[in-house]
Amino acid sequence: MSEQQFTPRVFSGIQPSGGLTLGNYLGAIKRFVDMQNEGSFETVYCMVDLHAITTWQDPKDLAHNTRELAAGFIASGISPEKSILINQSQVPEHAQLAWIFNCVARMGWMQRMTQFKDKAGKNAQNVSLGLFGYPALMAADILIYHATHVPVGDDQKQHLELTRDIAIKFNHDFGVDFFPVIEPVIEGAATRVMSLRDGTKKMSKSDPSDASRINMTDDADTIAKKIRKAKTDPDALPSEAAGLEDRPDARNLVNIWAALADISVDDVLKEVGGLQFGAFKPMLADLAVEKLAPIAGEMARLMADPAEIDRILAHGAGQAREITAPILAKTYEIVGMVK
Ligand code: TRP
Repeated sequence: MSEQQFTPRVFSGIQPSGGLTLGNYLGAIKRFVDMQNEGSFETVYCMVDLHAITTWQDPKDLAHNTRELAAGFIASGISPEKSILINQSQVPEHAQLAWIFNCVARMGWMQRMTQFKDKAGKNAQNVSLGLFGYPALMAADILIYHATHVPVGDDQKQHLELTRDIAIKFNHDFGVDFFPVIEPVIEGAATRVMSLRDGTKKMSKSDPSDASRINMTDDADTIAKKIRKAKTDPDALPSEAAGLEDRPDARNLVNIWAALADISVDDVLKEVGGLQFGAFKPMLADLAVEKLAPIAGEMARLMADPAEIDRILAHGAGQAREITAPILAKTYEIVGMVK
């Protein structure tokens, strides 16, 4: 659809609205690192603090969680030398473009967003206007970089379709071919990490039960204990993926193994098929500790020097604005705003 050639550029973001979990790591950050190291993209990764405040955040927690998320990105392998790492509010063009998009997107489009309906529940008259407009800001995050690839979880697919709709309507209304119509990069099934207490629910930083999740700051003992206590069923592990179909808790633990070890579910089951959970869980705990404890250690080291994190983010914001400022200026010009 686009005649213009866009630089292959990845953008993705995570909300600093709580601690970082294994779900964020296996479902998102690990792939961010892969895309960074692949070398065929420019990569921009973002702590979306402006999105976080669409629901109430205690200011102290927001600042802490933003730095901790930055530490988590870096400890997991996102290199400030190879990627642009930013905090959203430090790059004002995100919010500026979001306003333009608020005037492009239609009320009806927003009302159809299932995430808004889920988050607002019966309380739709009483949530913030920002929560309603959330997807327009997300579209701005992506399009202010002319990003071409956006790795996200399945739950964000509708927001990416809306991003396409906004780009198409903007281009059409103003008779330009300015914003790219992006392709979502949706995660594979193996990386959707579920609650350790209920394999049908996504692992979440907002679940009241801490035992339901592995936090990226958990130490080795805590990780091992949570895995030992994870909900399972009484049967032995199957030797093929098909045998996990109606066993969400078992499937979740096998998926976690596969993702941590970077192998397929079938390959995991070749190794562990036939084992009872009593034997499997300690093996999974060892693997999880081996992969995660070094990240937790590096996060703690980084968090001990918040000024260094702030310096990295300030540097990232400077790099980002070299991309975003000209795109915003051109957008304003297209819209007819006088300089
Ligand atoms: N809405 C995303 C989530 O909750 C976070 C996000 C905000 C994002 N802006 C983005 C993801 C831009 C990808 C691209 O997971």
